[in-house]
Amino acid sequence: MTIPASALHDAAERFGTPLYVYDAAELDAALARVRAAFGTARVYYAMKANPNLTLLRRLHGAGVGFECVSPGELARAEAVGASGERILVNGPAKSETEYSAGGRLGATFIVDRAEEVALLPPHSRALVRVNPALAVSTHDHLATGAVGSKFGVTLAQAPRVLAALRDAGHTALGLHVHIGSAIRDAHDFTAAFGRLTELRAQTGPLAVLDAGGGWGLDADLGGIAREARAAASAFGAALWVEPGRYLVARAGTLLTRVVGTKRTGGTFCLVDAGMTELLRPMLYGALHPVTPLWDGGETGVWDIAGPACESGDLLARGVSLPQPRRGELLAIGEAGAYGAAMSSTYLTRSRPAEALYQAGGENGADWTLIRRRETPQDVWAAET
Ligand SMILES: Cc1ncc(COP(=O)(O)O)c(C=O)c1O
Repeated sequence: MTIPASALHDAAERFGTPLYVYDAAELDAALARVRAAFGTARVYYAMKANPNLTLLRRLHGAGVGFECVSPGELARAEAVGASGERILVNGPAKSETEYSAGGRLGATFIVDRAEEVALLPPHSRALVRVNPALAVSTHDHLATGAVGSKFGVTLAQAPRVLAALRDAGHTALGLHVHIGSAIRDAHDFTAAFGRLTELRAQTGPLAVLDAGGGWGLDADLGGIAREARAAASAFGAALWVEPGRYLVARAGTLLTRVVGTKRTGGTFCLVDAGMTELLRPMLYGALHPVTPLWDGGETGVWDIAGPACESGDLLARGVSLPQPRRGELLAIGEAGAYGAAMSSTYLTRSRPAEALYQAGGENGADWTLIRRRETPQDVWAAET
């Protein structure tokens, strides 16, 4: 994140806090890193990471497609002009709406179980998701390729599902694998792709291998790309990838203001954002870098606590900060993925505003508001 501190103060002043800010330069840089590593692979952004329409439009404009896992995500893809080859319809329990919208848009389906062959619109293009049955280096809730995971078909089932797709008149493009999210160790991908290539003798050559996403921010992207390309070429297949986090996490920062401090059994810096704005620390024990945007003398160690009436509502623990003062700003980093996307209206809290930073951007302004803060009335608007 390269947004200057003065610009962060300016945004907090103009749009209020809690506020998500995104750095357009880092968004573009992340996509460039993916393209440099994966070469000609087709990139489908897993929009669950951050579905803001402005970000989607930017990625669509750069030639990126979308992986969608709900009717709402398909509607977003359509709203930014994506169709056909630029959309993947994925998910373990797709609804009728997803089959019909995917069919209408000419999307490619990721088949997650054999039963789905009969549910697809006629003459669909499809990939078969394979569960490689592996333990991987991430939080249990983020692992999607473990033995007991609900995703995909087994290695033994995969060739039969490909054949069933063909028999039913669909185009069986190939295989799909996604082993989880925020995976730290590139060897996990090597192992997963290795399991898939064991199927080569049974499947014969395939048109497409979709290697999923899941790359941790510090994982060896070049190594993962090398392994993915090798696996695709073992099938004579084109490589597709589906990054979410990697494309948007570093670009996003959550700005929150200090509300006060408290020393009881713990030492708390209370802030105006919490689990409703950024659930990942509570849900996965995720660690986000915390940067104080004030100077000060003495440094102490603080737990950063939000306003919710839940003891688990902590954004970070044991953070070194100069003495916090009410009204000062904290920047919670690497928050562009699964941050705003997972924010909730629990406690009738309004979901935060979002702003995009581009030095000298639209009409010469550095900041563009890309989602206004909800009002309480927005929150209860659907209630009768
Ligand atoms: C099928 C699939 N593809 C891609 C992704 C994106 O993962 P990540 O954001 O970790 O890259 C996910 C996320 O869980 C997923 O389920």
